[in-house]
Amino acid sequence: MEALLCKKLGDPASASVGNESEPSSSPIEVIRNYPIPQLNSPTAVRVKVKATSLNYANYLQILGKYQEKPPLPFIPGSDYAGTVDAPRRHQVQGGRPRLLLRRPRLLRLLHRCDLVAAAALPVAFGTSHVLLVLGAAGGVGFSAVQIGKVCGAVVIAAARGAEKVQFLKSLGADHVVDLTSQNLTASVKGFLKSRKLKGVDVLYDPVGGKLTKESMKLLNWGAQILVIGFASGEIPVIPANITLVKNWTVHGLYWGSYSIHRPAVLEDSIQELLSWMEKGLITIHISHTYSISEVWSYYQYSIFLLSRLIVCHWQANLAFSALRDRKAIGKVMIVFDDMGRSKL
Ligand SMILES: NC(=O)c1ccc[n+]([C@@H]2O[C@H](COP(=O)([O-])OP(=O)(O)OC[C@H]3O[C@@H](n4cnc5c(N)ncnc54)[C@H](OP(=O)(O)O)[C@@H]3O)[C@@H](O)[C@H]2O)c1
Repeated sequence: MEALLCKKLGDPASASVGNESEPSSSPIEVIRNYPIPQLNSPTAVRVKVKATSLNYANYLQILGKYQEKPPLPFIPGSDYAGTVDAPRRHQVQGGRPRLLLRRPRLLRLLHRCDLVAAAALPVAFGTSHVLLVLGAAGGVGFSAVQIGKVCGAVVIAAARGAEKVQFLKSLGADHVVDLTSQNLTASVKGFLKSRKLKGVDVLYDPVGGKLTKESMKLLNWGAQILVIGFASGEIPVIPANITLVKNWTVHGLYWGSYSIHRPAVLEDSIQELLSWMEKGLITIHISHTYSISEVWSYYQYSIFLLSRLIVCHWQANLAFSALRDRKAIGKVMIVFDDMGRSKL
């Protein structure tokens, strides 16, 4: 089977991707003949993966900057969808990239469910009054905007650039701040005034840094701060004295840890999100899709054409570059097709 393997830490977006016969300086490598996992217990199942999504956390993990540091080498990834290959076939969705799993980690999907969309859902949506969403066009941000709307919140979204603003408006955001041209505080205050609202009740923050500091000026008494991540690279300081005086509640939320501490809550929430997706209450937007097999066919062709080789090497880097360069709108996906050899 094929696998994208992280063999050492480094930036997967900036170097060319290697392979067995032609190693490169990249920390990631496409392995064509990775061993197919064997069923090793009566409750184990093997999943033929159709699609897996890239999360910013996967990028951080390859850089060596994520809180969980798997031993090298490892296959990066967090969520996927596919077909049970053994012992019998049906469509499932999981929150972990392993191909060999114990049954409780899998959720059965309805037959008509789109597997690529299902693979994009768990991490981003599993993680989300007046709700202010930072990094709102990214993977977790666009999920929070939609969940906020389903829950009846007035949703304010902050992102950079006209394309992201248009996208967030199409999701139903009540107000969108374009951070390339607008000041967050002034823009949000203007909107709140126009709606006769006092302030923000919930801050959803996957960005951190200066934006968090600025957002705190907009929070109401009794507000909730959801600490989701630090895409800016800066961990924000939330002053305890102001938290006390304003009766704020700060929630740390690490979605993955629910699988250890509250697996039932995680499963219930994903089931509910899948039913919302079925009903069309939430939608998955995928701005970039890459195919591992496409990378390989380019490579084989490249034995004759050097220029094709260069194209081949760039494909997998581009997936990570989309995240690093803040081009992703919604999700970035890696899709496995069913042609040719087994791609479990
Ligand atoms: N707590 C959890 O369980 C959980 C779950 C999933 C993700 N996360 C964390 O949440 C954060 C976002 O993840 P994601 O998958 O949504 O990432 P993403 O799709 O890349 O979105 C991140 C967004 O942050 C904004 N941003 C601001 N400063 C940035 C910078 N210096 N570099 C990159 N982006 C920047 C970008 O928006 P603009 O360009 O529009 O400003 C971008 O759209 C990450 O830190 C991730 O680890 C946490």
